[in-house]
Amino acid sequence: MSIQRLKLCVSKLSCNLVLSLLLACLTLGGCAGQAKREDSQAQVRELIFVAGASGRVGRYVIRRLKDEGRPFRSLTTSKAKAIERWGDSYRKMNWVEGDVRDSARMQQIVAGATRVICVVGAREATGPNGPEFVDYGGVVNLVEAAKAAQVEHFVLLTAIGVTDPEHPFNKATQGALQWRFKGEEHLRNSGLSYTIVRPAGLVNRPAGEQRVIIEQGDNWQPLLRSTLSRDDLSQVLIESLANAGARNATFEIANDPTQGPGDWRLLLDALQPDQP
Ligand SMILES: NC(=O)c1ccc[n+]([C@@H]2O[C@H](COP(=O)([O-])OP(=O)(O)OC[C@H]3O[C@@H](n4cnc5c(N)ncnc54)[C@H](OP(=O)(O)O)[C@@H]3O)[C@@H](O)[C@H]2O)c1
Repeated sequence: MSIQRLKLCVSKLSCNLVLSLLLACLTLGGCAGQAKREDSQAQVRELIFVAGASGRVGRYVIRRLKDEGRPFRSLTTSKAKAIERWGDSYRKMNWVEGDVRDSARMQQIVAGATRVICVVGAREATGPNGPEFVDYGGVVNLVEAAKAAQVEHFVLLTAIGVTDPEHPFNKATQGALQWRFKGEEHLRNSGLSYTIVRPAGLVNRPAGEQRVIIEQGDNWQPLLRSTLSRDDLSQVLIESLANAGARNATFEIANDPTQGPGDWRLLLDALQPDQP
């Protein structure tokens, strides 16, 4: 081979090398770009709709979601009142205003959500803003909106003893709990993936001070005098969004003051799904 030809080969070779390196960089860069895009799509893919976000349980839920950096949308009837109630740190909580009794509005604002946590509770004992229209009608509207939005999972907060007309609270409120049970039934029969959480009396105690106990089978009487920290509850509600054990399960929950904190996630893992 002549020197001239050798030089040509070497220069061709290095050209190819440079080209290959360039292509490799472009491909890697492309992959990284694609991975980044997929990451941000994964983030967009989760959007947790929190109904009752402005309430005493809801505030813990959205605080935790914010601290965990998870995308969420917070429902309230009045953003101004919610901020006034919980302070300025609640200003940037992705508020949307709406009334759960308004089905068209629920369809509109649940659209785009991938999961729902409902901790709504009627503030009035009777009348058009009472349990029948909020704890039942409102839950029906949210469930229907969630179905239309094809959400992956719906977590509903109700209360221990909702099945029993003899429950003292039911007796004292002309059957307010029966509407909660009807709301539960609507969700159970909706075809959505769900978790129904029935707490004992709620208190504002920091999470992790007392053991969380979970029961199934509607055996609520032993829990009648028990309490549950709203902060503990908020963790369980969020965990229930994606815990396989909590899928299509209903459970009662309380704190046991005689025991220190334990690993309550294991209790969720061991839950049994509801029998159809
Ligand atoms: N207290 C207990 O000991 C206990 C025990 C067991 C179960 N629970 C259940 O736990 C749930 C939550 O308790 P909580 O202490 O957080 O209640 P809460 O402080 O009274 O909060 C109620 C939430 O429901 C919302 N809401 C009421 N009517 C609405 C409507 N028409 N449209 C949209 N949102 C509406 C409120 O929104 P606005 O702020 O915008 O009005 C608020 O965010 C209640 O359902 C209760 O039944 C309570």
